[in-house]
Amino acid sequence: MLKIAVLVSGGGTNLQAVIDAVESGKLTGTQIVLVLSNKPDAYALTRAKEHGIPSVCIRKKDYDTPADYDRAMIDAIRESGADLVVLAGFLVVLSETFVQAFARRIINIHPSLIPSFCGDGFYGLKVHEAALSRGVKVTGATVHFVDSGTDTGPIIMQKAVEVREGDTPEILQRRVMEEAEWKLLPAVIQGIADGEIPIGN
Ligand code: GRF
Repeated sequence: MLKIAVLVSGGGTNLQAVIDAVESGKLTGTQIVLVLSNKPDAYALTRAKEHGIPSVCIRKKDYDTPADYDRAMIDAIRESGADLVVLAGFLVVLSETFVQAFARRIINIHPSLIPSFCGDGFYGLKVHEAALSRGVKVTGATVHFVDSGTDTGPIIMQKAVEVREGDTPEILQRRVMEEAEWKLLPAVIQGIADGEIPIGN
């Protein structure tokens, strides 16, 4: 059984996609053992509670030093028994210490086809605003391993989504979620659970 910890900051629709996939039996051999948020009011925490998944809020500002914060995050994830850390809209830059603690065992979902529209400052609607202003005709989503850079780790899987005439950032964001993100994330987790996508040990 692959045990996963999902790290969130917001609405948690990607978390919901994984919960739904597990509960419906589409995603097998996987258990969500922890939902960790940096925001106490993240709706993702409500989703976790509604589905009986252990959840915790860990805020940087509650710790005296960055090292204390890292320790709290690492301890919470280790105590949960998670084999894999899934970043699903987690808007905190991870330290080198954290990344090393779970080397090649952290994945992230990003709402563009990396290397387009990624890196520092490209999050949320900003990604889709940039895609529309550049005039690309195809965008999509990427799941990648996390290294110490922003959106620089090895790409695992991508899915393309068409940009349509008249798209607003909000409309495009929704289409990228529905057609790519919510399918891609469970698909990658299934690949990891099945041993087809090797992770660190
Ligand atoms: C998604 O677009 C994801 O790709 C990005 O942050 C957003 C999170 O949305 N990393 P949600 O909280 O899963 O609804």
